Amino acid sequence: MPPGIEVETARLLLRRWRFEDREPFAALNADPSVMEHFPSSLSREESDALAGRIQDHFSTRGYGPWAVEVPQRAPFIGFIGLFVPDFEAPFTPCVEIGWRLARAWWRQGLATEGAQAALAYGFEQLGLAEIVSFTVPANRRSRRVMEKLGMRYSGDFNHPRMDRHHALCRHVLYRLARSDWAATARS
Ligand SMILES: CC(C)(COP(=O)(O)OP(=O)(O)OC[C@H]1O[C@@H](n2cnc3c(N)ncnc32)[C@H](O)[C@@H]1OP(=O)(O)O)[C@@H](O)C(=O)NCCC(=O)NCCS
Repeated sequence: MPPGIEVETARLLLRRWRFEDREPFAALNADPSVMEHFPSSLSREESDALAGRIQDHFSTRGYGPWAVEVPQRAPFIGFIGLFVPDFEAPFTPCVEIGWRLARAWWRQGLATEGAQAALAYGFEQLGLAEIVSFTVPANRRSRRVMEKLGMRYSGDFNHPRMDRHHALCRHVLYRLARSDWAATARS
């Protein structure tokens, strides 16, 4: 495994994916509460295909949404990390930060903790100038994580992959420049 590809935080190990992650990943993708703000929950096949796309992202770019492990407690609870969206929008090309955790692990600050490490990786190791995040307006939990990370709301957009009339088409965009992150991290 190349150096730097795993990241440890106080409570988490952010690591490359393993084949055994696919089963717990399918379980969380089948949970309607986890997928509340997505068009639908995922079948086993759709979940495996997503895991495959994430692994391909690591292979081609050297980074991606890490598999999240809670050492000594749970080998896989979801993903947190960086991804290059493959659609066109006014803010692309860009690097996005995203997260999805099994419900049993919510509300302990774990998404924020892992995402802070992912931002540090993106700005310090990858030298990115900016990292963005987006979700539907109603996803208050995810927006709260973005806000706690110091990301700034910077307007709405229609997700190009969604039908314009679909209730989940409208998205809120948050952005964080490296200079702002560095200032926050120092304070
Ligand atoms: C979004 C998600 C990753 C957050 O994980 P988490 O580990 O619970 O996040 P944290 O504990 O770090 O922070 C969550 C924050 O949201 C707040 N929150 C929780 N439920 C909320 C709600 N219904 N409305 C507003 N805020 C809410 C929490 O209080 C916390 O903020 P606080 O620390 O100021 O109290 C998790 O809920 C998840 O996996 N959701 C499903 C997948 C998803 O929507 N992913 C994002 C797609 S863009």
